[in-house]
Parts: sequence; C-alpha cells; structure tokens
Amino acid sequence: MAQALSGLLSSGLSGSVRVPGDKSISHRALIFGALSIGETEITGLLEADDVLATAKAVSQMGADVEQLGEGHWRVRGLGVGGLQAPSGPLDFGNSGTAARLMMGVIAGHSFEAKFVGDESLSSRPMRRVLDPLSQMGLDWHEEYDHLPLTLIGPSRTLPMTYELPVPSAQVKSAVLIAGLFAPGITQVIEKEATRDHTERMLSYFGAKLTVTLEADKRLIAIEGDAELKGAPVIVPSDPSSAAFLTGAALICPDSDITIEGVLLNPTRTGFYQTLAEMGANITFINEREENGEPIGDIRVRTSQLKGVTVPAERAPSMIDEYPMLACLAGFATGQTRMCDLGELRVKESDRLSATQDGLQAASISCDSEGDDLIVQGTGQVEGGGFVKTHMDHRIAMSFLVLSLGAKQPMVIDDTTMIATSFPNFIPLMEKLGCRFK
Ligand code: S3P
Repeated sequence: MAQALSGLLSSGLSGSVRVPGDKSISHRALIFGALSIGETEITGLLEADDVLATAKAVSQMGADVEQLGEGHWRVRGLGVGGLQAPSGPLDFGNSGTAARLMMGVIAGHSFEAKFVGDESLSSRPMRRVLDPLSQMGLDWHEEYDHLPLTLIGPSRTLPMTYELPVPSAQVKSAVLIAGLFAPGITQVIEKEATRDHTERMLSYFGAKLTVTLEADKRLIAIEGDAELKGAPVIVPSDPSSAAFLTGAALICPDSDITIEGVLLNPTRTGFYQTLAEMGANITFINEREENGEPIGDIRVRTSQLKGVTVPAERAPSMIDEYPMLACLAGFATGQTRMCDLGELRVKESDRLSATQDGLQAASISCDSEGDDLIVQGTGQVEGGGFVKTHMDHRIAMSFLVLSLGAKQPMVIDDTTMIATSFPNFIPLMEKLGCRFK
C-alpha cells in the first residue's frame, strides 16, 4: 500500500552515521559468489529488496545462500557453468541491475529461465542487454524486449567484441559475465568509463581480465572458460545512499555530519566533485583502501551553493545522483545546467521528467533543452506541492530531502519503494535530526 510522507523544515543535523552497503557491489558479490567454487563470505551486504531479489535468484538456481547475521552472508557457489535451471520464475522486483546481470548468467547455461519484475521494471528496455547477449547465443521466446521474458540459454556461449552504444555498467557487466562461459576472449569497449566494480571483483575472484586504455576508449578483455574462487567481500557504504544525507546536511541550517566508510571509487564520485565546484563544505577524512576499493569518511557542513554546469562526460560517475543534485540546485544561487541526461529516461522511472515535475511542484524554476536539465536557483526553495514518485526510490528520497530545507513541506505520494535500496533511510535521517510526518 502507498505510504505518503513529508519532510519537515529541519535544522542542526549532527552526528556520525553509516549508510548501508553499496548496492552495485552487493549484487555482484552474490552473483560472483554463486559462480565460484568454494565459499564467499560477505560482510556489510545491503539487505534491501533489490539485493534480496538477487540472493533469491541465485539460490533458486542452486547456490547455497545463507544469512549468518545482520549484513553477514555466506554463498557456497557451484562454479562457472554449474548453476541449475530454476524451478519457477525469477522475480527481480524493481531491480534493473539484478535482472540485467542475471541475463548474462543465463547466457552461460543451457536452460530456460523466466524473468519477471514489478510494473516499473517490466516497462524498462532490455534490448540493450539482449542485443549483445543474443550475439553470444542467448535466445528468448517473446517478441518484445521487456519483462516478463523467458530466456533460453545456449548450449555453447560464443565470445564477442562489443562496443557499448550507451554508457551502461549493467550492459558492460552482462557481456563480461557471459564472457566467463565462452571459449577465448570476450572484449567490451567503452567510450566513457562506467562503474568498474565488475572488473575489480571478477579479477579479485580469479578471472583473467585486463583493462587497456586506448585513445579515449577503455578496452576490457576477459578470458572465458574461467574459474572463479570464492573470496571474502567487505561491502563499503553506498555513495549513492550517502548522497541523500549529504544533500540534507548542505541545505538544513547549522548542520555538521559525518558519513563513515563510504565507497570513493572515482567511477562513482561525480556528485561529490560537482558539489565541490558548487562551493559545498565537504571534506574527505581517513581515506583508505579496503578490498581493492577506495573508501573514506565524508564530513558535510551547511553550505551556500552556487550554480554550475555539469559536463556530459561526468554523467556515468553520478548517474543515480541527478535527482538529488537537481533538488540541491534549487537551493543554490544562479543557474545549474546538467548536460546530456538521456539515460535518466530509462531508470526506475523517467527520472528526467519526474525530477522536473517535482521541482516545478516545489516552485523551482527549471527547464529542459534536449537532454539537458536547467535549474534556476534563488538560494531558497518555497516547497509545498505534491511529488509523484512513479515507483522510484531515488525520486522519493530526493524530494523528501528537498522538503527538509523548503519553506513549505512537500507531500511525497509513496515512499514504500525506498525499501528497494535504503530500508533504514527514515530512521537514519531522524537520528541526524531530520523530521518527517
Ligand atoms: C548500476 C549501473 C547503473 C545504475 C544502477 C546500478 C550497476 O545503471 O544506474 O543503479 O550496478 O551496474 P546503468 O548501467 O544502466 O547506467
């Protein structure tokens, strides 16, 4: 049942907190654990609906997945090619990452699997993944390119070289995962670097994978007929979840918070780079490396932001943070132009139009020119109005944050989807001093 909520004008946020584990790394730890020989012990796993869908899918295919404690999981895998046909449909709920990465897994097994999802996921385009995977041997029964789909894995997976037509880590990962099962080398070429957790974690699990930079392209080559070995994974805190706490502290007066142990992989930190250019008082403390990923604590204090232009090439490193950034741009002085946001149209909702509608409901002046979003900030936000989340967790959280700093509270129509990525969002924000009703 839908659950409406408002953020109430808040001030003086303080405290030191940890946000849940990174969603992208959590999905991959479960999938690669299932494709490994031996045990993968995971600490800090994100226990949100999206990731639990992946855990359920790999266990339906024979991997032994067990929760040992809070965020503490163990996967006993069956090795590359060892998974079994699921007895029933695999339900990926709201998760595009789970569905698309698991398509790469089916492309390596000669059985059928039915993929289903919720209304939002069932309207998202799968052609971008099905196209390359069909060249590697994957087939499906239906004539359309969205869930529900019954996928037919090939008896032999073919290697390929694929240049990504869209900057998408999900597409890249699906092809690299399918490449694990193919003889020879599978290569993915990307013009813009997208999050590289698949490359890092597959190497860590023993896959033979190389990354070469050539002119302005990134060539990722993986050796097939691979053998993966289970290994311990510590999941760092999700920078995309930390973005909402960061946003709240920036706009609520007299705030000073610290978010601990956040993933600072450069393919994920475009939001923080942009905020620095906007004049945000953000410092990174205690930077270190854990499990092959850079992490650190983020200290955020209330700041008067100024408008900037966010270049198109930064989009992949902050793709999930644009709704939050657009809300913050309303509190900045001057114009913020966010360039080339076409990919936002195919997220959990059409995030470009959902964001624009929400900004307009808050009386923030904004416009779009092609795929650019332009926000005119005046330093303060009137708020009020009603936000439609369209089953999109990040729209819900972004506008709840906006509401905390606005003169009038906004009503967010449905906050239940927040559970897909950040189940303890409300209590954690309340711990910092945010108020909701
Ligand atoms: C993700 C990649 C991104 C991102 C999504 C998680 C991943 O999607 O929006 O939330 O874990 O690979 P695209 O690859 O489609 O841009």
